[in-house]
Amino acid sequence: MHHKEKLSNESAIEDHTYAVFPNDLNSHNTLFGGILMGLCDRVAAVVAARHAGCICVTACVDSMHFLEPVRKGDLLVIKASVNRTFRTSMEIGVCVMAEDIKAEAHHHVVSAYFTFVALNDHGVPQEVPTLIIETQAQRRRYEEAAERRERRQKRAAQRRLRHEQHKLVDS
Ligand SMILES: CC(C)(COP(=O)(O)OP(=O)(O)OC[C@H]1O[C@@H](n2cnc3c(N)ncnc32)[C@H](O)[C@@H]1OP(=O)(O)O)[C@@H](O)C(=O)NCCC(=O)NCCS
Repeated sequence: MHHKEKLSNESAIEDHTYAVFPNDLNSHNTLFGGILMGLCDRVAAVVAARHAGCICVTACVDSMHFLEPVRKGDLLVIKASVNRTFRTSMEIGVCVMAEDIKAEAHHHVVSAYFTFVALNDHGVPQEVPTLIIETQAQRRRYEEAAERRERRQKRAAQRRLRHEQHKLVDS
């Protein structure tokens, strides 16, 4: 079977918007981080599923750092696209901006990298279409994604080892 190829803009999401309401806040009256994490995961999941053409599950999320608070009434604007495909997995990059409508100001809230794995109807990982690179910016993201994958794989290997050690101690 001919292996499919796809462009980034076939699955990219440019400006998913979300209005921050009172039920999204923490006790400090700023946006609760978990809401943001969930939103990013949902948007990234749509990008992954559109690219792969099947159900995709989150395998891993790289660290997320929240540098500035988001306030009630702010609008979140989320961009997400496939940075690189591997065999059955792909890295989705997500960028979140917050807009203060009254002040007509906006700031960067967080960038995050999600790894999704495409699953077939039996829940087994299946190959995803290769990403076609068209622009310089896409090329840069593509190359950086390889470095992040290497770091992730090292950490995943350490984690698996610790998991096995715990199982031995528990048994
Ligand atoms: C993701 C999952 C399907 C991978 O299963 P697995 O048995 O490790 O499968 P494989 O070894 O065949 O790996 C499949 C792909 O997942 C990738 N992968 C596995 N663990 C990973 C991790 N921790 N981080 C990043 N990628 C990972 C592999 O690199 C491989 O990608 P590739 O084919 O592009 O190289 C499995 O761990 C799973 O079902 N996890 C739960 C997912 C879930 O429910 N997520 C929702 C949040 S609770």
